[in-house]
Amino acid sequence: MNRGLNINTKIIRQKLMKHCIDVKDLNKAELLNLINLAEAMIHEPQAYAHLCQGRQLATLFYEPSTRTRLSFTSAMLALGGSVLGFSDEQSTSVSKGETVADTTRIISGYADIIAMRHYKEGAALAAALHSSIPVINAGDGSHSHPTQTLTDLLTIHRELGRLDHLTIGLCGDLKYGRTVHSLIKAMAQFEEINFVLIATDSLGLPKYMLKELEENPQLSYTIKHSLEEAIGSLDVLYMTRIQKERFENEQDYQRCKGSFILDQAVMELAKSSLRVLHPLPRVDEIATELDSDPRMAYFRQAHNGKFIRMALICFLLKLDVPNLLKPNAIEPTFKELYLKHNGEYKCSNKHCISTVEVLPKLIEKSNSEPSCPYCEKVLLKNPTSE
Ligand code: CP
Repeated sequence: MNRGLNINTKIIRQKLMKHCIDVKDLNKAELLNLINLAEAMIHEPQAYAHLCQGRQLATLFYEPSTRTRLSFTSAMLALGGSVLGFSDEQSTSVSKGETVADTTRIISGYADIIAMRHYKEGAALAAALHSSIPVINAGDGSHSHPTQTLTDLLTIHRELGRLDHLTIGLCGDLKYGRTVHSLIKAMAQFEEINFVLIATDSLGLPKYMLKELEENPQLSYTIKHSLEEAIGSLDVLYMTRIQKERFENEQDYQRCKGSFILDQAVMELAKSSLRVLHPLPRVDEIATELDSDPRMAYFRQAHNGKFIRMALICFLLKLDVPNLLKPNAIEPTFKELYLKHNGEYKCSNKHCISTVEVLPKLIEKSNSEPSCPYCEKVLLKNPTSE
């Protein structure tokens, strides 16, 4: 195990405690605290209707979204705050070449909190490094999607009454599916979680996520090649869409499309207590004939997203809400991390934000096979650093 990088990553995470870039920025007590607050908000929304009066949320969406952007908007409005932002980078100065770093610096002066979705992996971390207000990662490429995971945890808790001792099937696109990556990381905080990975060979988990599974004592996993084989043992089935937009070419997508379809015949093999989650949108992976089956929780899941995001906004803004924990925030003064910049490594991942923007190199020189703190992929020796 690469201890040097882990220590360094820990430094970054501590500095980002007032942001939500990765689901690991929240410890178990904070996750449960947010779930409890969201539950209270579902039952008595009026009690929280003025908490954000005079506060602004900026939604910076460089990639399409329905649920995440609109549930953040709905959450802030339900808290009495207001929302500004964009949902199409072409209508902003990004189209003239403005960086995430500069955009974030500017928006920090216009709002109190940012929710950002970007197609580049690590973009939210890059934004947080240049922000004077809390940044929430609303999805960064195929890397992670922590607020979807908060939604998923709230949903599992509401549906099954527990977050421990679960067998969870992850089905579909485990390679590009950022919601799956964040869910695995979050479940490491709970006890006895067994994942069943159901994917084609070409859409299996990336290496760094398999490492996460293998190194975590709370997690175990098995691999199955069909839904029929797996579904009978599951407490939760987490279906995902094949992420067409992330494929290098149409032929590769066509080869994977339709690999796993959940329909009535497959559901007959499932437990009556099974809950089926899906971050949505769906394409063809869940037959619409199943929507009325009470085991299908995905529309309830999408509705839960608004309330957990309300809770997260209150938490990151350190609002005075009864029973809400205060984030263990250390102000993000990243100066010592800037000093570590040695230019020796570059990220191997062309989808990483660090390959298109000049950013602090958050890396210890001593690592033998270091990974990129922005996207977690392997770093390569930079030949120009000699
Ligand atoms: N689940 C999710 O992220 O949906 P959107 O892409 O519509 O935001």
